[in-house]
Amino acid sequence: MPCASPRKWLPLQAAPTKTIVAIAAAWLRSVLLSVMPHSRNWTLSDIPWGHFQAARVDPDVLKVVKAAAMVERNGADYGRYLCNVFADDPTFCDLARTWATEEEQHGIALGRWAELADPNYKFDSAFQQFRDLYQIPVDATASVRGSRTGELCARCVVETGTSSFYSALRDGVDEPVLKAICAKIAADEFRHYKLFLNAMQRYSTHEPLSVAARLRIALGRMNEADDDELASAYFAGNALPGPYDRNASAAAYSARAFGFYRQRHTKRAGHMIAQAVGLSPDGVFGQLMQKVMWLVIGFMGRRFRTAA
Ligand SMILES: [Fe+2]
Ligand SMILES: [Fe+2]
Repeated sequence: MPCASPRKWLPLQAAPTKTIVAIAAAWLRSVLLSVMPHSRNWTLSDIPWGHFQAARVDPDVLKVVKAAAMVERNGADYGRYLCNVFADDPTFCDLARTWATEEEQHGIALGRWAELADPNYKFDSAFQQFRDLYQIPVDATASVRGSRTGELCARCVVETGTSSFYSALRDGVDEPVLKAICAKIAADEFRHYKLFLNAMQRYSTHEPLSVAARLRIALGRMNEADDDELASAYFAGNALPGPYDRNASAAAYSARAFGFYRQRHTKRAGHMIAQAVGLSPDGVFGQLMQKVMWLVIGFMGRRFRTAA
């Protein structure tokens, strides 16, 4: 028999063009989503909240997530700061505003998960306490990095840190909802890195910055992981008893956060940093950066590192 019964084809032949287009669009969307499951433009309703499993919540993971939620939700301030620094570049400002909205969404998703994991947790009031402790200079009209190329280089370092952190958290946690959130955030952070890398490469043609200067900015920004932002986020996010101790809070955060990392995460991060600095990721510096990062992060997270 050369073909199936013609009756099978009648509904399709008779279907209005609009229906066929809708079916095709739905099929195309499902194909795209299956290829890019954690692509852009996700919303809180895309998170499978109903799959939450309280028994799989690790108290140390919860502490780290509460701190991360503070910093991420503060994204709007960074967006305002970037739009001040790049005030004459409306195209970049539009990208920065979208970026800031995505960062805020990261914070809201993590905060909502923390409220599920800890029913006594009040995300909004913890965030207000964080804001009382720490605020960035949103009124600055020039980059605190000395140049706009330098500013973008520092942003690449931050996105390298967040993409590796959420990848490590995604791979290290058992709770399915948190795993899904981290997968979506990690994909966003890798995209953010590319956004700032592309902008930096564009700016460096008319505001050049030497490799040495970029390296200084990159290392300086990495060192700021110990500054007040993460420490106060850990302190306020976890409602630690006062007074606020920056060193103790930074150490408590780092030990837990770095405990999730595996060598593959630092390898990719070292690759990204080398690229941002303008050196070959596979060259001597790139290799050295990967090794040093694993030495430092591996050591700092040793207390909370479980077997892979
Ligand atoms: Fe983020
Ligand atoms: Fe980001």
